[in-house]
Parts: sequence; C-alpha cells; structure tokens
Amino acid sequence: MSRTNTVEDSKNIAVRVENLSKTFKTYSGKFNALDGVSFSVNKGSFVVISGENGSGKSVLMSIIAGLEKPTSGTVYTSSDVGLILQDADASILGDTPKDDVMFGLVSNKIKKKDAEISAENVLKRTGLYEKRDFPSHYLSGGEKRRLALSSILALGFNTIILDEPYSNLDYKGVKEVNSLIISLLKDGVTIILLTHEIEKCLGRADKLIVLQSGRVVFDGSCKDALSKDLLKWGIKNPLLSYNSLSDLFWE
Ligand SMILES: Nc1ncnc2c1ncn2[C@@H]1O[C@H](COP(=O)(O)OP(=O)(O)OP(=O)(O)O)[C@@H](O)[C@H]1O
Ligand SMILES: [Mg+2]
Repeated sequence: MSRTNTVEDSKNIAVRVENLSKTFKTYSGKFNALDGVSFSVNKGSFVVISGENGSGKSVLMSIIAGLEKPTSGTVYTSSDVGLILQDADASILGDTPKDDVMFGLVSNKIKKKDAEISAENVLKRTGLYEKRDFPSHYLSGGEKRRLALSSILALGFNTIILDEPYSNLDYKGVKEVNSLIISLLKDGVTIILLTHEIEKCLGRADKLIVLQSGRVVFDGSCKDALSKDLLKWGIKNPLLSYNSLSDLFWE
C-alpha cells in the first residue's frame, strides 16, 4: 500500500482512498472486510458514513487514521487524521481529563506549562473543565467521548473521524456532540462521522457514503440518499417514521 501525506494535485481533498481492500485471516479462512473501496472527502466538509453492523466502517477508518494497513489500495490524507474510537475507554490514558489531554501534548514535546494551559482551554471548549481533575475512570460514556475528542482537538488535527459518537447518548448528549461538530466545521476542520443513526446528523452533512459488506453502495448527496430504498442497506429511512403508537416498534 502507499500512504502519502504530502501536498497533492487536488488541493481541496482532505482524504482520498482508492481501491482499498482489507482481508483478515480467520480460523475458517480469509475474510474480506473491505473490497475495492474508493471515495474522497473534501477539506472542511462533513461526511457521514453509514452501513449495517460489520459493513466495514471502523476497519476503514482505522486504515485512514494510519492505525492499520490495508491489504491493497492507497490512502491519501492532506494532514494527520484524529480518530475518536467507538470505544472511548480504549483511548483514555490519563488519570484525570487534564492529565489525559496533557499526555498527548507532552508526548509531542510541548512544555508542561504550555500543555497545561492548552489542556484547560480545550476542556473549556468541550464542557469538561469542571471535571478536569475528576477520575477519568468515573466519567459517563458521553463525557469519556468528549474527553477523547478533547485530546484530539488539543493536538490540532485538521481531519477528525468520530466513530459512533451518538451511541448511548441522551438527547442533550447528542445535541452537545452536534454543537461541537458545528463549531469544528466553522474552524475549517473536516469531519467524518460513522453512524447508523443518520436521523441525528444527516441534515447538516455534505454527503452520505453507505458501506455494505465492505463495498461502497452509495456515495452522494443526503437528499438523493433519502429517496433511495435505504433498508436494503440495513438503514431505516428517517423520513418514513413515527406517526402513530404502532410505529414505535421496529420490526
Ligand atoms: N482483526 C480482525 N480479524 C478478523 N475480522 C475482523 C477484524 N477486525 C474486524 N473484522 C471484521 O470486519 C468486519 C467489519 O468490521 P467493522 O468493525 O469495520 O464493522 P462496522 O461497520 O464498524 O460495524 P459496527 O456498526 O458494528 O461498528 C466485521 O465482520 C468484523 O468482524
Ligand atoms: Mg464500527
């Protein structure tokens, strides 16, 4: 595979993957998690990637963020990519939110005093300042995810991937995630958001990409997507929902 981080021909592109495949060896043989995936994401845009469980979203993003290598294909990123993992616990390294954010900064050779100021500023932005010295272990699920985002923001990534940022969040928590997304977009950050809860974000997205069994089955405008039969890709169309009590049971 080739991975380039240099300025490329197309100045507007934040991420481009071409013909990406990933094969895992399993006990029962080989399994193709990704099969010829190609798409691009413009700088400063907000792209939602959806698809049923196991369709390849998280594997794809680990490759884009450089945590895993593809079996074949190319990845181009205009800058380093920050990934907020689906399991926020896995990315928390510090005993407290402040320690956690400082850890990344100090590892990047930022002086301790400067790291402390940056950490406090970013925790104010993500609404965790009051809990800066609280044990990270006891943060709620939504707070842990905000902490993971804080650490990524402090490092100044221009492209951020949020893997299932709405899982287990209440209405207020979802609105907080969305207001952070809007503020990041205003700062010119590129956002890639993986979810099957498209009703929570599609209204502000620039495009939707749908994966199924490791392949791209849709890449286009959100408006176009809603006119398609999304159910065949395992996604419930949010425009066809909830008019009566009997609708409040998915079957
Ligand atoms: N290390 C691995 N070895 C073997 N198979 C793997 C490995 N990692 C992922 N897979 C498989 O690749 C497929 C895609 O996984 P992935 O985590 O990308 O799905 P996803 O679209 O993110 O699903 P979800 O919506 O449940 O988060 C799954 O079938 C998964 O079991
Ligand atoms: Mg996943």
